[in-house]
Amino acid sequence: MRRLNIPGSVRTTDGIGKRGTMRWGILVVTVFLGVGIGAAVKAKPIEDQGPFGPNYVPSGEVLYRQFCANCHGLDAKGDGPMAAALKVPPANLTLLAKKNMGKFPRESVERTLRFGTGPTAHGTSDMPAWGPIFQFFDKNNERAVQRRIKNLCDYLESVQVK
Ligand code: HEC
Repeated sequence: MRRLNIPGSVRTTDGIGKRGTMRWGILVVTVFLGVGIGAAVKAKPIEDQGPFGPNYVPSGEVLYRQFCANCHGLDAKGDGPMAAALKVPPANLTLLAKKNMGKFPRESVERTLRFGTGPTAHGTSDMPAWGPIFQFFDKNNERAVQRRIKNLCDYLESVQVK
């Protein structure tokens, strides 16, 4: 094994060095344990998906409840439990078509989901950019990310007021 050149492990005469080495030892063990636990936690969702397999993507409604309802509300009208804590209020997502002359603005919704809403008149909004988050969940499987965004758009389209 390669010897680590760690400050603190050099001076052994005053006792500090030994303690220093011990501390580094504990640190190294902790880091390795951490990596082990991290790997176990990361690997779990795939097992949880069981028969669905690693490319399984939840339905738009399930995704919506999981990732959006906190802010936008279960009914998508912008009144989720977190709404009051946000500087910029979450949009009423049932009015997207109505505000766009009756046509669901799929492309702009897709863009918003992927990249976020960007800065607004009231400063940066709390609407997260979901692209990177879904990329993480789907292990950079771009087709799975697209599917999540498509499922969400389909779901949002289905809750538009006429
Ligand atoms: C942490 C709170 C939060 C979460 C979670 C959240 N949003 Fe948002 N969302 C916002 C806020 C705040 C705005 C308004 C931002 C603005 O006006 O710039 C917004 C705006 C939007 C818009 C733009 C609406 C418009 O009028 O153009 C869409 C679409 C949207 N959210 C969809 C979603 C979807 C789908 C999810 C789940 C994948 C989601 N949001 C999760 C806070 C959130």
